Amino acid sequence: MEKLVIKGGKPLTGEVEISGAKNAAVAILPATLLVKGECIIENVPNISDVNVIFDMLKVMGAKVEKINDTCVKIDTTGVNTYIAAQEYAVKMRASYYFLGALMGRMRRACVPLPGGCDLGPRPIDQHKKGFESLGCDVNINCGVVEVDATNLQGGNVYLDVVSVGATINIMIAAALAPGATIIENAAKEPHIVDVANFLNSMGANIRGAGTDVIKVKGVESLHGGTYSIIPDQIEAGTYMFAALATKGNVLIKNVIPKHLEAISAKFVEMGATVEEGDEDVRVCVEKPLKSINVKTLPYPGFPTDLQPLMVTALTTVSGVSKVTESVWDSRFRYTGELTKMGANIMVDGRTALIQGVDGLCGALVKATDLRAGAALVVAGLSAGGTTTITDLKHIDRGYENLENKLTALGADITRIDE
Ligand code: EPZ
Repeated sequence: MEKLVIKGGKPLTGEVEISGAKNAAVAILPATLLVKGECIIENVPNISDVNVIFDMLKVMGAKVEKINDTCVKIDTTGVNTYIAAQEYAVKMRASYYFLGALMGRMRRACVPLPGGCDLGPRPIDQHKKGFESLGCDVNINCGVVEVDATNLQGGNVYLDVVSVGATINIMIAAALAPGATIIENAAKEPHIVDVANFLNSMGANIRGAGTDVIKVKGVESLHGGTYSIIPDQIEAGTYMFAALATKGNVLIKNVIPKHLEAISAKFVEMGATVEEGDEDVRVCVEKPLKSINVKTLPYPGFPTDLQPLMVTALTTVSGVSKVTESVWDSRFRYTGELTKMGANIMVDGRTALIQGVDGLCGALVKATDLRAGAALVVAGLSAGGTTTITDLKHIDRGYENLENKLTALGADITRIDE
């Protein structure tokens, strides 16, 4: 079993380059099923979730050719099935994007219920509601979602909850649906805009992505082309937290600073220095940090995916901080692992009260999900002594080249295979 061994306690310094956005890539790659011709996708992160999508596309008959580490050529002309393979689909959440993509392409879809991080219940009722508003029949039988999209057509959808996945999935399905689709109460995350930009660059007609009303005019077909994925907001945020928690000084490059504003604002409130450039952000800590209160919210609020990183950083900030999770029911499970490292955290439902301690100490801990795993890495970097992290499969789903990027910042981190 692979483990990360971290000898912590060193401030991180230097520069780090951010990869392409995981949550944009895992939607854009399935959406290539809508395209007639070749798509060249640049700035694709080299992570296991993306590799699973490549495998899913390949077994369906697509040609997937890596041009270099971050660029891939995809030709889905040869795909002639509406069924997504179960062995891959259950490995990740984003396999649900094959529903929207296959509906558009084949007018039929059969995709096993998705897997992904265990953050409490993860229903897909809003996806179902959206597809039904586009004239489709949706049935869930024995863990498989079956959609008959013979009558796929534009329609109006009001989402009852702001859902990233449902917004993107409906947008993908609507791209080739005759007529007009309006998605109201849509999510506004940067990767939603990126998926819309990708589809538009291939000939779709989507307006309003990034606001809470998205309008799609269905087109007859999409053509091939080249598209570059945006930088990963959450990976960038993770390195911002690594700098903060180790009281370091790090320049985070290849980012869109606007996507990081909610994080930067909280850092400034804590007393850290954040300098924004055109395509980079520098985080440095020059004085003791202050305790704060944080609530996670859909974009442009503070992202839930950085909540475990925020809690980790606050464990060593003097005073009491309060972190409220408003997106997921059970996203504090990892706090037990931080407690093993000496953190003082009390969780009550969706709120965590963090009493700052003088410092964390190294321990043997387990990554319980992707961002919880990243939080433990940051905890290990800031802790005295040695931290060993197991269950790296979660971390590898979303972080490209993690050890090398951190080593270049002065961290002592090694992957061992026992
Ligand atoms: C996406 O998940 C991300 N995953 C998650 O990131 C992220 O935490 C989440 O958005 C929120 O930002 C991907 O993009 C692959 P939602 P998604 O639909 O789309 C409820 C990571 O670490 N809901 O926006 O599954 C749901 O229960 C991952 O990269 C319904 O009730 O999230 C939740 O409370 C973890 N019915 C809220 O909406 C639905 O049909 C937001 O979920 C759909 C969602």
